Order: sequence, then C-alpha cells, then structure tokens
Amino acid sequence: MNCFQIIKFVLDEAYNQIEGNESEKDESISEALVYLRDQYSKLLTGVTIDYSHPITRFAYIYAYVTSHANLVNTIIDKSSDLSVLFDKEKVTVTCLGGGPGSDFLGILKYLMLNSKNPRVSFKICDKEKAWLDSWEGVDNMVDPKFRISTSYNSIDVTEPEDWQSLKNYFQSSDLFTMIYFMSEVQALRDKADEFFANLFEKAKSGALFLFVDNNIPEFYDWFDELADEFGVEILKSRRENILAPIHEEKKDLGEYYKKFGSPKIRANVAYRIARKT
Ligand SMILES: C[S@@+](CC[C@H](N)C(=O)[O-])C[C@H]1O[C@@H](n2cnc3c(N)ncnc32)[C@H](O)[C@@H]1O
Repeated sequence: MNCFQIIKFVLDEAYNQIEGNESEKDESISEALVYLRDQYSKLLTGVTIDYSHPITRFAYIYAYVTSHANLVNTIIDKSSDLSVLFDKEKVTVTCLGGGPGSDFLGILKYLMLNSKNPRVSFKICDKEKAWLDSWEGVDNMVDPKFRISTSYNSIDVTEPEDWQSLKNYFQSSDLFTMIYFMSEVQALRDKADEFFANLFEKAKSGALFLFVDNNIPEFYDWFDELADEFGVEILKSRRENILAPIHEEKKDLGEYYKKFGSPKIRANVAYRIARKT
C-alpha cells in the first residue's frame, strides 16, 4: 500500500464510525471542513480545536493529512541534512502533535520513493487520544520491508503532569517533527514553554528538528527563540509557498475526492531544519 492508499483505508474506517445515512454524513463532513478552515484562521486569537469527534477527524485527515504528508516528504527530499539521517540503520523520530499521522506518512512516503529502509521507530505524541482510533494498526499495513514501528503517547504539552515523568523519553530521538503544531499551542505559550524548554534542552547532541507551520511570525519566532536559547543551530530557514502534487492522491482518495473536493494543496509555510549542537 502506498501512503495515500493507507489514508483511503483510514478514511473508510473513519467514515464507517460516523453515525447517520450517507447524505447526513456527507453534510456533516462538509460542515466540519468549513469549521476547521475557519478555526485555523483564528489560531492567534486562542481558539482550541476539538478533534475528539469522528466527523472532525475524518475532515482533518481528508483535507490536511494528505497535504502535510506531502510537505514533509518534499522538505526531507530537498534537505541533505534530513535525508542522510534515513541512510542510518536505525532512526528514532518523535512526532509532536503527530496524532493525525501526517508526519509519519510524510516520512514513510520519503522512504518509499527513495527505496530507503532503516528501522524507524516513531514516537507519536499528541493530547488527543482519539487519533489512536484512526491509526491503530497502520504500521501493519506497511510493506514489512519498511521496518516501521509506532508508539503513541497521549501528552498535553501544556500540562506538566502529562510529560514530567517522561523527561528522558525524548533523549533517544534523532529527529523531532513539529508540523503545524506550535501554531496550535501558541495561544497557550505561557503554559507550553516549559515543555519546549525541557525538550530543546534535553535533546541529544546532533538531534535534528523539523518545524513546519503557517508563515506567521508569532509561530516561527517562537521556534527560533527556543533554538537560540538552547543551542539548536538553524541549518535551513525558509518561508515559501509549496504546492503538493496530488495527482496520485486524487485517484487513491476515490469517491471522497468527488464528494468533498480537493484536499489542501497549496501551503504558505515557514519551515526550519535545525540541529542540537
Ligand atoms: C493542526 S494539527 C497538526 C497535526 C499534524 N502534525 C499535521 O501536520 O497534520 C495539531 C495537532 O496538535 C495536537 N495538539 C493540540 N494541542 C495540543 C497540546 N496542548 N498538546 C499536545 N498536542 C496538542 C492536536 O490534537 C492535533 O493533532
């Protein structure tokens, strides 16, 4: 299965979990797509998005996971610092706010397209437990020649009791991904700062960071300030429009593409590739 066949499978499962007949479900999903777009435009005002409902999760996976996975693949592909990491025999990746699976699938897409097969252990951390419902068993759908394992940790980074006992959990990571994550907690920066300070401080020397987010200073300045304070060297800093090629996905997304239109394909992003010194 390629990444987008996996997404289609996950969407089918998520669609089946939604109550109601087909037209009721489709109407609710269309509303949730509008709701998410609207909420993302208001992140700076402090809205919090509730992903616990299967309709919201379906809408997120449909509209954003395909796009964000493409971004991750494209950025890794263009970066020698990131791509050589996957030439190693064993890689540990922590995906912060990675519950929806985009970070994982983006890396998987990169491995598949480049025929690389290190043993990759993904530590997926997210406050929303319900994502586990969507992605449970996904690693079993991946061709076993890709030696992938995933573990899921339900952590709210604004709640110290959720992560303080895991202070050393992040030390084995070779790569931290923060894909559209800091924007979602930016309004709670006062509460989340302690988590990020601990993470940036405890990351092992040589660990890489991939930050991708909306091209808005409040989000990338926060990352840059943490990097500066904790000896994390920014190797690449970009603000650009990235267009995701979705011709392959269109076919794989099948009937959903006809019902719900195109997933997000153009992203105006700021991204950073950084390394702990
Ligand atoms: C916009 S989504 C990004 C997901 C994924 N990285 C991607 O690019 O598609 C933000 C994620 O952050 C999670 N999240 C929001 N607030 C959080 C918090 N305080 N602690 C941990 N995760 C949080 C949400 O549950 C959601 O999965």
